[in-house]
Amino acid sequence: MKISSPQFAFLRTLLKRVSGVSLDESKQYLVEARLRPVARQRGLDDIDALVTLLRNTSDPHLVDEVVCAMMTHETSFFRDKAPFETIARMLPEVIKRRGVMKQLVIWSAACSTGQEPYSLAMLLHERFPTILSGWRVRIIASDLSQIALSRAREGLYSELETSRGLTPVLRNKYFRPLQGRWSIAQNCRSLVEFRQLNLTQPWQTMPPCDLILLRNVLLYFDVPTRIDVLTRMKQTLRSDGGLFLGGAETMLGMDIGYERKSGTGCSYYIPLKTPTRAA
Ligand SMILES: C[S@@+](CC[C@H](N)C(=O)[O-])C[C@H]1O[C@@H](n2cnc3c(N)ncnc32)[C@H](O)[C@@H]1O
Repeated sequence: MKISSPQFAFLRTLLKRVSGVSLDESKQYLVEARLRPVARQRGLDDIDALVTLLRNTSDPHLVDEVVCAMMTHETSFFRDKAPFETIARMLPEVIKRRGVMKQLVIWSAACSTGQEPYSLAMLLHERFPTILSGWRVRIIASDLSQIALSRAREGLYSELETSRGLTPVLRNKYFRPLQGRWSIAQNCRSLVEFRQLNLTQPWQTMPPCDLILLRNVLLYFDVPTRIDVLTRMKQTLRSDGGLFLGGAETMLGMDIGYERKSGTGCSYYIPLKTPTRAA
């Protein structure tokens, strides 16, 4: 199932327009592999037929399905470990500062199938159980992909998925076996609010956040889109909050008002102080 060059060019433009994701010209093979199951499922002969349907449709579900299929949803529990250790070390100070309001907001801003926000929930249960009673603790988990989000909401993971990042002790404590898979515990589910959110569009409904995890998504955007997203993130991040990017992502060369800090085995960013922003 090969795709013709004009159809590939159409898909790249569509993906960029809908999600901000810039797909390299060399990634034709990837699109073919990812769209093959979508074409088959719709009973189409090949990917060109799928793209022809896409060009002539007003069905937003088909656009969503194709865009989501082209994206990378790779994730795992406690991915890269170091950011979670850094967050665990930062939290006592954050909790002290929020002691009057008794509110903590963490945003997992491209949460894929949910492993990242559920890792945060497990971290809070393991290391900060006292704030989970009497405090309003919110882990807001967003993604563009409805398909990824519905898996995240379902909270059911295969043996292989749980083996990536979870010790058997954590798995047995926070999951129960269900129909050959592992279902995340209610005490973790209840901390996480899922919502669909496109990072390339305004997100007025987000509350001020203490911590933001924007990991392994910026690398799919071009530089102007990265700068735009990071600039708007500063409005959502509290002036004493912290922003985490993925291990291969950096703000190097972007003069957009963040200061880089060293954590435990990773870096994170804080907004440069301005006199007007509320803490
Ligand atoms: C590689 S996953 C990262 C998951 C997780 N943050 C991690 O580091 O393990 C990238 C996610 O970004 C999402 N994404 C891509 N473009 C997006 C956009 N414009 N707005 C919101 N999410 C987007 C994809 O749907 C995908 O689930």
